[in-house]
Amino acid sequence: MVLVVQIAYGGLVAGLKAGHVSDTWPLMFGYLVPPKLLSVMEPWWVNLFETPLTVHFIHRWFAFVVAAVVVALAVAVRRQGYDDEVIASTNLLLALVVVQISLGVSVVIFGVPKWLAIAHQGTAVLLLGTTIFLLHRLRRAAPAAVAVPVSSQQRAHT
Ligand code: HEM
Repeated sequence: MVLVVQIAYGGLVAGLKAGHVSDTWPLMFGYLVPPKLLSVMEPWWVNLFETPLTVHFIHRWFAFVVAAVVVALAVAVRRQGYDDEVIASTNLLLALVVVQISLGVSVVIFGVPKWLAIAHQGTAVLLLGTTIFLLHRLRRAAPAAVAVPVSSQQRAHT
């Protein structure tokens, strides 16, 4: 879900040509959180979808929410003893998210060159594909059985 939102925002950034709003990272115009994010248009929530500055700002930082979810998922499948294929898929997701954030930052600081934007878009497709594959595997693969010691009392009843 967070990945779908991020990809949708990527579409808004590209559609509004919002990648050109700022060519610095992490700061925009010298601010970590630039002013007037929610006050360029009325009502305030329209800015979330139509103001290039706001859309760009959301897309550059929501990427780290996506990264945090991927890290949490990778930790969870390890703790719950899922099989190697599931763990390998989360490793791939981790690598792709690092590549994708690096490409996104490069797109911004190099002024949105076409080839970098295409690589960024292509990596988004790989991320989505890997996520769909992982969800499919998670539905089928149960976590490995965890050995639970049986007490002598329980054994007496069997
Ligand atoms: C998980 C992380 C990310 C995902 C999945 C993602 C996804 C996308 C997608 C799918 C597009 C293209 C949409 C289209 O062409 O229709 C896009 C565009 C863009 N993204 Fe990201 N992005 C991520 C992280 C970032 C980061 C961290 C930055 C900047 C710091 C960034 C900056 C941009 C810019 C500037 C564009 C517009 C490029 C253009 O005008 O062609 N992205 N993103």
